[in-house]
Amino acid sequence: MSSTNGNVLDNEAYPTPVGVVESLLRHLVLRPGDRFLEPAKGEGNIYDRILLPAEQKSWAEIRLGVDYLTADLGQQDVIITNPPFSLTEQFIQKSKAELAPDGTMVYLQRANYLGTVKRVKFWEHVGFPNKHPVIVPRPRFVKGKGKSGDSCEYMWFIWDYGNRFPTIPLGMSHLITPGTTIPDMMIYRHGVAA
Ligand SMILES: C[S@@+](CC[C@H](N)C(=O)[O-])C[C@H]1O[C@@H](n2cnc3c(N)ncnc32)[C@H](O)[C@@H]1O
Repeated sequence: MSSTNGNVLDNEAYPTPVGVVESLLRHLVLRPGDRFLEPAKGEGNIYDRILLPAEQKSWAEIRLGVDYLTADLGQQDVIITNPPFSLTEQFIQKSKAELAPDGTMVYLQRANYLGTVKRVKFWEHVGFPNKHPVIVPRPRFVKGKGKSGDSCEYMWFIWDYGNRFPTIPLGMSHLITPGTTIPDMMIYRHGVAA
């Protein structure tokens, strides 16, 4: 899922950077009996960090022969993924149908997924997430030279019906990846630095 260079890898196999995953999961409060699903496991950057017994965890991954869109994985309490961008609408609709009423569902996505004309009916149908922290700094999904992030904002879209992210505020917030240096704010008075 890169908006930087316009090229798309096979199956959109862009693993989520570990620091980005960890900055989210440090807020996750699981319940002992929770059933967890990663619908597009990739290399396991999310799946491997979910601290539940193996029998309570499930996954799909097309490159390992499990197509999420046709798999029957049952009802889930917690679903967290960074999906293949081009299949996000299908993934979210299926996940929402599989989520328990007090479940928690998290999708990593571009912020500009929200304002597209063709997705207005989609958002009316699935409903907006109640928490949507912006990932800071912008993650970089393409390998190669350079340290700068991708060219657009990314957010975790969190439908937190079960309040498993109690320390992430409702609405918009920042989720800062560990190791990020945040500069002090400049204070201006009458347009002049104080
Ligand atoms: C953007 S990558 C993210 C991987 C992983 N979720 C992570 O956060 O690191 C998307 C993944 O979705 C997988 N994928 C693509 N289509 C799929 C499908 N229909 N069912 C399951 N996995 C799929 C790709 O092979 C790829 O590993």
